[in-house]
Amino acid sequence: MNSREQAFKRIKAAIEPELILSAANALVANGDSLPLLRKLPDRSVSLVLTDPPYHATKKRNIYGDTAFAEDQHYLEWMAEYAVEWRRVLRSNGSLFCFCDSSMSGRLDVLFSKNFNVLSHVVWTKPNDPGFDGWKGKMKKEALRQWYPHSERILFAEPATEGNLFRSPFALFLRDVRKRAGLSMHQLTAKIGAHGKVNHGGAVSNWEDGRNTPSREQYEKMRKALMETGKVELMPPYEDVVRPFVMDASKEFTDVWTFPSVRPYKGKHPAEKPAAMLEHAIEATTFPGDIVLDCFGGGGSTALAALKLKRRTVSMEIEATWAAEIASRVEDATEADAPFLSPARNGNGHALPRINGNKARQLALFTVGK
Ligand SMILES: C[S@@+](CC[C@H](N)C(=O)[O-])C[C@H]1O[C@@H](n2cnc3c(N)ncnc32)[C@H](O)[C@@H]1O
Repeated sequence: MNSREQAFKRIKAAIEPELILSAANALVANGDSLPLLRKLPDRSVSLVLTDPPYHATKKRNIYGDTAFAEDQHYLEWMAEYAVEWRRVLRSNGSLFCFCDSSMSGRLDVLFSKNFNVLSHVVWTKPNDPGFDGWKGKMKKEALRQWYPHSERILFAEPATEGNLFRSPFALFLRDVRKRAGLSMHQLTAKIGAHGKVNHGGAVSNWEDGRNTPSREQYEKMRKALMETGKVELMPPYEDVVRPFVMDASKEFTDVWTFPSVRPYKGKHPAEKPAAMLEHAIEATTFPGDIVLDCFGGGGSTALAALKLKRRTVSMEIEATWAAEIASRVEDATEADAPFLSPARNGNGHALPRINGNKARQLALFTVGK
């Protein structure tokens, strides 16, 4: 059993009583995600991709959006999540947290206690007239600031205490290289990755956290370090290097252009576009990785993760929305039987299908015994 599979089983065991869906690669829990999150094992998740209530938008149809009288209370609440997200993330994991542009600066300061905040992604929506919120309708002369036509997505990697500017991988590499008794220059020479400008070449860049080695470069480095006889074990690439899979054909800048989800019956009021979530997940995870969403809504994160053959854990406080996530995950996984096996609850009983008027059983896909 690989480490992701083990972690997934441990997560399942930790939140079993709150699970309303337990499938081979998908868990859906109904409850307040903060206490649920506190039950999760350390370093068990590869990606936290989550979309909390924005607080600034004060939407009454989103649980929690009007819950905080003052900004500070919201920030204190988010700070509790940040500590837990740091704890449950693997050292090569990533965090995406959606927020309103008016809160992003203060959230950055807060997250920076536990994370290196790498990007403030600006999500802009090229929506057609009639589907562009107040943009078309509102009186422009009445504006007193630029009309907020974007949302923010903070992207961050776990930081190491006392050294916020070095990634865990950078620190790991420095430690293991020193243990092997090699200078940066020597290790660079051994793997043939000399930079043209920098004396330490690629290794120096990696240790500074400026970029990361490819799989091939890492394998060469692994071999070179172990050949010194001073390093016994080097973890596999997937367990140590934070994935960032990008090329010129993708949205590689920090301005993301994805249309909002058009209204449809059953749409969550804050549903995020599937293509955008897939973009985020594909770039920052390996297949099989565990993607956690603490504010599941209508389940868009879970569906994107499953489509990309990742494992998914969703938490949602509202029973009807949690049931909707379970139902959508069920529908998605039915089409993908080899990836998932039938769903059962913690007692091994088949779970009832929860979605409103559909009465049939959740004859779904559970973790193989
Ligand atoms: C902004 S919406 C997420 C929408 C989601 N990204 C989607 O695409 O459907 C936030 C969700 O978090 C849920 N929520 C609010 N407070 C929560 C809490 N303490 N624990 C779990 N879920 C919570 C709300 O019910 C809401 O569905």
